[in-house]
Amino acid sequence: MPDRIYNFSPGPATLPQEVLKQASKDIVNFNDKGIGLIELSHRSKEFMAVADEAESLVRELLEVPDNYKVLFLQGGASTQFAMIPMNLLGADQKGTYLNTGTWAKKAIKEANIIAQADVAYSSEDTTFNHVPAQGDYSVADDSEYLYFVTNNTIYGTQFKDMPVSDKMLIADMSSDILSRKIDISKFGIIFAGAQKNMGPAGVTVVIIREDLLDRAPETLPTMLRYKTHADKGSMFNTPPCFAIYCVGLVCKWVKANGGVEAMAKMDAEKAAILYDMIDSTDFYKGHAQQDSRSLMNVTFNLPSPELETQFIAEAAAQGLDGLKGHRSIGGCRASIYNAFPKQGVLDLVAFMQEFEKNNS
Ligand SMILES: Cc1ncc(COP(=O)(O)O)c(C=O)c1O
Repeated sequence: MPDRIYNFSPGPATLPQEVLKQASKDIVNFNDKGIGLIELSHRSKEFMAVADEAESLVRELLEVPDNYKVLFLQGGASTQFAMIPMNLLGADQKGTYLNTGTWAKKAIKEANIIAQADVAYSSEDTTFNHVPAQGDYSVADDSEYLYFVTNNTIYGTQFKDMPVSDKMLIADMSSDILSRKIDISKFGIIFAGAQKNMGPAGVTVVIIREDLLDRAPETLPTMLRYKTHADKGSMFNTPPCFAIYCVGLVCKWVKANGGVEAMAKMDAEKAAILYDMIDSTDFYKGHAQQDSRSLMNVTFNLPSPELETQFIAEAAAQGLDGLKGHRSIGGCRASIYNAFPKQGVLDLVAFMQEFEKNNS
């Protein structure tokens, strides 16, 4: 068996090897204290220090302003689809949504259960192959916020520039957080399931403007209120200790490798290698329109579904794993988040060239 294959999975996804090695040590014996990391009480001073460090690194890397809380929650990014309207909207209020794929649609569904989702744009009729440009939609005056998904993991599309609105922005950044600089002050809430660019599954990072903490209706259960978690430093109940610890390690790795801007540069380089390959031939066809292409998830098709199946199997046999596209669009998808090595992209391109030669 190889030591390590290239894992193109969309999430849980490749983590830095340094992080895996450190975690495997600390799980058994944390900081040589004779106790495993995942045995520590979440209220012990050792774990509190771990959680504090993870939070301060998220703040530092993303330049989170002082009037925002950083929360570590459970329930996955999907719970945020409901928590956002639950905490921000009364039953007769609405939020505006840009429907750019499966994850946006799921958020729209939840918003409509609780209040009203005003869908200002949809790219569904072109299988979500692009995101809207500024001016392709408008946000109603009586809307409370503009909600969008910065990177559409399944379709391989990404907002290059964040939408601009005089309403507060709410963003699902599950699949591109820590991959680029953002002006957090334009946002009410940013959230991200950690399992793509931040760590393992099990924790969702929520960055929320403090004045929004008091908007929840009286009837909202305690665990579903952002304020509950904000008031207790994400320790109202037992937090996902291991996942929080890993987010801290990943943040340290990002910092040691130049921070978010260095990640953005590296990510752009890696993605360009793959898109250049796709554009150099008719054998491979990118799913996303050029101006909407994601730097995180590169989606493409081959001339037939049979060739795609063969491609995915042969690639896997060569240690290029996880290239199968999401079941809703099929085809192939290479997820190349921050921690995915450039060499893996180069190897994939070499494999693609060889496969084309043998099968066209
Ligand atoms: C952009 C985006 N949002 C939300 C989710 C759902 O995340 P979770 O499984 O943590 O609920 C995913 C999962 O792939 C995603 O890619």
